[in-house]
Amino acid sequence: MPQPLDTALAEVRDLLLDPALTRAVAAGRRRGHIPSVNRAELRPVALKGGPRLQIVTDDGARPYTRNVAPGSEAAAAVDALLAEPFGNWHVETASATVQVRVTKKGDAQVHRAAATTAPAAPQQHDRTKQWLLDPGDPLFAVVGGTAAKRRQVDAFLRALAATLPDDPASLPSPLRVVDLGCGNAYLTFAAYRYLTDLGADVQVVGVDVRDDQRVRNSAVAEQLGCADRVTFVAGTISDAEVAYPPDLVLALHACDTATDQALARAVHWNARWVLAAPCCHHDIAAQLKAGTAPPPYGELTRHAILRERYADVLTDSLRSALLRLRGYRVDVVEFVDSAHTPRNLLLRARHTGAAPTDEQRAEYAALTAQWGVTPALAKLLH
Ligand SMILES: C[S@@+](CC[C@H](N)C(=O)[O-])C[C@H]1O[C@@H](n2cnc3c(N)ncnc32)[C@H](O)[C@@H]1O
Repeated sequence: MPQPLDTALAEVRDLLLDPALTRAVAAGRRRGHIPSVNRAELRPVALKGGPRLQIVTDDGARPYTRNVAPGSEAAAAVDALLAEPFGNWHVETASATVQVRVTKKGDAQVHRAAATTAPAAPQQHDRTKQWLLDPGDPLFAVVGGTAAKRRQVDAFLRALAATLPDDPASLPSPLRVVDLGCGNAYLTFAAYRYLTDLGADVQVVGVDVRDDQRVRNSAVAEQLGCADRVTFVAGTISDAEVAYPPDLVLALHACDTATDQALARAVHWNARWVLAAPCCHHDIAAQLKAGTAPPPYGELTRHAILRERYADVLTDSLRSALLRLRGYRVDVVEFVDSAHTPRNLLLRARHTGAAPTDEQRAEYAALTAQWGVTPALAKLLH
């Protein structure tokens, strides 16, 4: 039930000035208004001079950090931020999480949940690291995952940030997201948190073939207080029942041709944005092994290791070409350093609706014919 904005912001003010504050983020914008900064993040920090409230604001060019003393200085800084027309406040304290979203009518949609973890010790000022999502975020304590997975997910979100429009207010509302082959749902929850912090009204569905993952992930969503926004379905990527055609499709390391299923489903849904980081590649590798390389490329497939590497490159090149033929503009990028995972390629696609040229069609046909391969994605798109 929406409630008056003033009442909701008064509650936020009390929480921001409460010593039990863990972290708060203000982002997004209200209809017809533009805040002077894109985002503000507040957290308690322990400095030599005593406790401070750290406020990091970002105007789109660079972050600006200041540390204000508790009492009247903090109250004045908080009041100034509350006066900004942010679309969204997310506040965590030792005992509760409160989210306030300003509706199109200017009311407040308030969501409250119990705190999910014990509060972290106040951060040492000089140890702050530049992450898109704070690794100390209680979200990660609940969702779990290794440091490597967090780094991967953070890097994936950076690629997402570079794909979406600069102005969060131009995102669809609600922004519908599907994470295909979601596994333990690190990315699913992290994407929800990141996009919500941007001020978007986000709905996410995670799909995995394993029902035990659905049960576990749904329980985590309850624990995080976002079960009405983040839901899970058990089923294959191709056939799982998803309540809506999403705007944004994510797939991080969906095994082998599960990535092709994800791309095909995204095309069938006509998704606006698709980010897929492929995993292992066996489909084209097997076809190359069974076939004969066109001259003079025999050397590329004679040795197993070279054949596998070439198969990886050919697979993702053909995926990219097929998406282009379906009206997507595609970038293939490394989203994270290869030291963190060898599976560090990302296909980043945006639907433009551009009709393919005859040249592009001919190039795809010639490439597959010369190598005698039919990519899994081509079969799925028929
Ligand atoms: C390598 S894990 C990646 C999980 C998650 N995206 C991540 O990065 O942590 C691949 C996941 O995809 C799921 N999966 C594989 N093939 C699938 C399919 N055809 N349909 C649905 N899920 C699939 C597996 O059950 C597994 O949880």
